[in-house]
Amino acid sequence: MMGVPCLNGAVAIARSRDKLRALQLLTRKDIDVPVTVCARSPKDMDMMLELVGGTPVIVKLQQGTQGIGVMIAETRQAVSSLLETLWGMGQDIIVQQYIAEAKGRDVRAFVVGNRVVAAMRRSAKAGEFRSNLHRGGEGQRVHLNDEYKRAAVAATKVMGLEVAGVDMLESSTGPKILEINSSPGLEGIERSTSVDVADKIIARAERYVERRGQRATDAVIDAERRARRLQSSVTPSGSSRGPAASDRSRSR
Ligand SMILES: Nc1ncnc2c1ncn2[C@@H]1O[C@H](COP(=O)(O)OP(=O)(O)OP(=O)(O)O)[C@@H](O)[C@H]1O
Ligand SMILES: [Mg+2]
Repeated sequence: MMGVPCLNGAVAIARSRDKLRALQLLTRKDIDVPVTVCARSPKDMDMMLELVGGTPVIVKLQQGTQGIGVMIAETRQAVSSLLETLWGMGQDIIVQQYIAEAKGRDVRAFVVGNRVVAAMRRSAKAGEFRSNLHRGGEGQRVHLNDEYKRAAVAATKVMGLEVAGVDMLESSTGPKILEINSSPGLEGIERSTSVDVADKIIARAERYVERRGQRATDAVIDAERRARRLQSSVTPSGSSRGPAASDRSRSR
């Protein structure tokens, strides 16, 4: 609104922040995600568990971060008591298929524009299933194959983001996107990969502004051209009426 170009716009950020919304948008574009359902009432319990493939399941707050609000429920009883408690606190929650073959590891791909500029595999500490660095996970640089790179860039595009931290699980059927972070931290990824990610973001911002600047200039030139065309169509050449004519007659 203030004409200040920003790489990640408000709409794209809002889309990515809501985990359920983001997963719905990805699914619509045939981007693979773990089966996820939105739980509303206890009567949906059995159908919901069946849809996500039975226990253990992952229960998440729709807007959690750093692994907070991400829980595992091993039994039906654990699921129902957990959901009842969270509903009681007025929380919006999702229930998600547990991707066991991930074995406490995930991949964080850092996307800038149309490229993965750095990626790390995060491994959870012993006894933990969440690989977030803030939960004691360890990051190691990883060179992604094209399938994972494509999935990360495609997911970022679906959100409409220019900069994103895409979390993916390595499943037996390929990458499964967990979420797309619109303001991913730099510390962990730069330390684990030794890539100067900040520099890549700045370079993208410079190109973004240049392109926008060029577009703005083009728009002005177009408008001027249109005005001139309009002008020449309303004041046929040689007529004495209208401002341009008076100037010309004066100069002669
Ligand atoms: N469906 C799942 N199956 C297996 N592991 C999962 C699943 N969902 C999440 N995890 C593990 O839990 C971690 C945190 O989950 P997720 O990325 O959804 O939460 P988060 O709190 O938003 O994280 P972030 O800090 O990246 O925003 C993941 O990095 C992954 O290790
Ligand atoms: Mg995450």
